[in-house]
Amino acid sequence: MDQQPTLRDYLGILDRRKWLVILAFLVTLATTVVMTYRAAPIYRTSARVLLSGPAYVPIGGQKENEPVLLPAPSTIDTMIEMIKGPAVAQRAAGKVGLGLDAKEVQKRLTVQRVGGTDLIQIDVEDTDPIRAKHLADAVAEATIELNLEGRRRHFTDVRRYLEAQLAAATQRLREAEAALERFRSRGGNVSLSQESALKLQKLSEFEAQRVTLQVDIKRLEEEIKQARGGTVVVGTGGEGAAESPIVKELRNQLVKLEVELAGLRSQFTDEYPVVKATMAKIQETREALRREAANQAIFLESQLAALRARDKALGDIIQRLSAEVADVPVRELELARLTRDQKVAEESYLFLARKLEEARILETSIGSEVRIVSAAEVPNTPVKPQKTRNTLFGAALGLFLGIGAAFLAEFLDDTLKTPEDVERSLGVPVLGVIPATGRTRSGGLPLLNGQGSRSPLIEAFRILRTNLSLANPDRPLKTLLVTSPIVNEGKSTTAANLAISFAQGGNQVWLVNCDLRRRFLDNSFPKREGVGLSTLLAGMSELEDVMIPTGVEGLSYLPAGTSVPSPPDLLGSRRMEAFLGAARERASVAVLDSPPVVVADPVVLATKVDGVLLVVRAGQTPKGVAREAVKQLKSAGGNLLGVVLNGVPTGRSGYRYGYYYGHYYTDDGKR
Ligand SMILES: Nc1ncnc2c1ncn2[C@@H]1O[C@H](COP(=O)(O)OP(=O)(O)OP(=O)(O)O)[C@@H](O)[C@H]1O
Ligand SMILES: [Mg+2]
Repeated sequence: MDQQPTLRDYLGILDRRKWLVILAFLVTLATTVVMTYRAAPIYRTSARVLLSGPAYVPIGGQKENEPVLLPAPSTIDTMIEMIKGPAVAQRAAGKVGLGLDAKEVQKRLTVQRVGGTDLIQIDVEDTDPIRAKHLADAVAEATIELNLEGRRRHFTDVRRYLEAQLAAATQRLREAEAALERFRSRGGNVSLSQESALKLQKLSEFEAQRVTLQVDIKRLEEEIKQARGGTVVVGTGGEGAAESPIVKELRNQLVKLEVELAGLRSQFTDEYPVVKATMAKIQETREALRREAANQAIFLESQLAALRARDKALGDIIQRLSAEVADVPVRELELARLTRDQKVAEESYLFLARKLEEARILETSIGSEVRIVSAAEVPNTPVKPQKTRNTLFGAALGLFLGIGAAFLAEFLDDTLKTPEDVERSLGVPVLGVIPATGRTRSGGLPLLNGQGSRSPLIEAFRILRTNLSLANPDRPLKTLLVTSPIVNEGKSTTAANLAISFAQGGNQVWLVNCDLRRRFLDNSFPKREGVGLSTLLAGMSELEDVMIPTGVEGLSYLPAGTSVPSPPDLLGSRRMEAFLGAARERASVAVLDSPPVVVADPVVLATKVDGVLLVVRAGQTPKGVAREAVKQLKSAGGNLLGVVLNGVPTGRSGYRYGYYYGHYYTDDGKR
C-alpha cells in the first residue's frame, strides 16, 4: 500500500469534513459581510493646489545690486509638510467650524505630490461627504492664507523701517527749505558767478551721491547684523547676495524638522527619545544655518568695504572741491551751502519716498506661492467599506479557514476511517467494508435478510465471505470469532449478517451469542427463556435444547442464556471446547459473537477458534486502541484473519464505497 497521500485522499478528507468547511465558510463570510455592512461609509474627496514660483512683482527702476529682503521660495516637500502640519489644520478647523479640532482634521488628511508635477493633492476622508468637501477646501485656503501671511510679514517690516526714515528725511528737507527761505528774505540779493555756480553744483551733486551712498552703507550694516543673527539676505540680482543652495536646503530641512517636532510634541513629552533626537537635529541645523549666515555676512562685509571705499573717495573729492570754492565770497558761499543742503535733503527725501512706494507695492502685490487648481467636490459614493472586495475577501478567507479546519480536524482525528488507514496502522488486511445503513425501523440491528439482492449490505457481506474463504486456504474455517477493540462497533451486526450471508450461500450455519454480558443479539433472533450458551456450558442444558432454528434457512441460533458471574471461566472451559468440536462436526460454519477485547472473553475464545475477525467502526475506533486489540489477540495466539471496517459512509454518489468495493473485489479476483 503506497504511503503517499493522493489527491483522492485530500478530496476524501474534504468530502468527509464538508460540513465543517461549509460552516467555517458561512461563519467567516457572514461575519465579514455583517461587519462590512454595519461599518459607517467613508467618503473621499480631493482639492488640488499648485505651488508656483516666488510670487512677487519686481519693481522697475531699482538700482542694480540693491538688496531686497525676499523670503526664500518653498520647495514642494516643505509645502507638503506645511499642509500636513498643525498650523494649517488649526486654521482649516476654524474655517469649517463643525466642532472639529486640529488633530481630527489631520487624521482625515492625506497630502501628496501629483506625479512629478508642482501640484499637491489634498485628500480628505470623512463619514460626511459634505464635510469632506468643506474640509478639503478649507485646508487648501488655509495653506494659501498662511503662506501669504508669512511672506507679507517680510515686506511689512521693510515698509515700517522706510516710513520712519522718510519722516526724518521730510523734517530735514523742511528745515533746509526754511533756512534757504530765511536767507533770501534777509535781502541777500546775491547771485553766484557762473564759475562758482558750476563748482558748487558739482560739489552738491557729489554730496548728494554721498548721502545716498551712506544710506546704502547703513542698510548693508543692518543686513550684516541680521545675517549674523541668522537671517539670510537675498539680492535682486547681479552681484546681489543670492541665497546659496546650501542655505536653501538647510532652511527647508529646518522647516520640516520643526513641523515634525510639533507633531511629535503633540504625542510625546520632551523627555521622549524621538523628541530629544529631533530637537538635537533642529539645533544642529540651526548651527549649520548660522554658520552659513556668517559666511553670507562675510560676503556682505566685502560689499560694505567696497561701499566704504567709494564713500572715502567721494569724501576726498568733496574736500578738494570745498577747498576750491573757499575763495567764493561768504554770502555767496552761504547761499550755495543752503541751496546744496536743500538739494541734498530733497534728493534723500525723494529716494526714500520712492523706496517706500516700492515697499508698499511689494507688500500688497506679493502673492501666495500656492493657488487652488481644483476645489473639492461633494463625493456621492463612499470609498469605504468596499463591499464587493470585502465580501470576496471574506469568502476566500472562509474557504481557506474551512479547508484549514478540515485538515486540522483530520490531523487531530486519530480514528480509523479508510481501509488504507487500517492496513497502514494495524498491518492487518481488510477483508470487508460494510457501508453505514440508515436506522432500522424497529431500532434493532440492520440485518440483511429481507433486503433486495442488490443491496449494498448484501454485496458487502458477499465480498467478506469470499475474502474469508481465501484468507485461510490451508485450514477450513469452521469456527469464526467476531470481536472488536471497544463496544458498539458492530460486532453483533457483523456476526449476524455474516451468518445470514453464509446460510444464504447454502451452508449449515450456527450463530452463537458468546457475549454473555450484553446479550442484545438475543433480541434479534428467536430464543427460549432461561436457556442458552451459559446453561449449556454449565451442563444444565443439552445442545438440542439451546439450538433454535431461525427464519433463515440453514441458520440456527444459540442465545447467550442466563447471566453468569465469570464469563471468561465459562468460555475457557472444556465444555466450550467440546461445544466447538461439535460445531465443527455438525455445522459448515459457526459464527461466534463476543464482547469487545477490553474484557478477557474474546481473548480466551480466540485461542479456541479457527479464525478471528476484528470489527472496527469507521471514524470511531481510535488507532491506538485498535492496535492494542490486535496485539492482545495475536499475543494470545489467536489466528487474526483480518479486519472488517464497519459503518463506512457511502457518500452522495456512493463514490467511496464503490471505490472500495471495486478495489477489493478486483484485488480478490486476481489473487
Ligand atoms: N453498518 C452499520 N450501519 C448502521 N448502523 C450500524 C451498523 N453496524 C452497526 N450499527 C448500529 O450500531 C449499533 C451497535 O451495533 P452492534 O450492537 O452490532 O455493535 P456491537 O459491537 O455488537 O456492540 P456491543 O459492544 O454493545 O456488543 C446498533 O444500534 C446497530 O444498529
Ligand atoms: Mg454486540
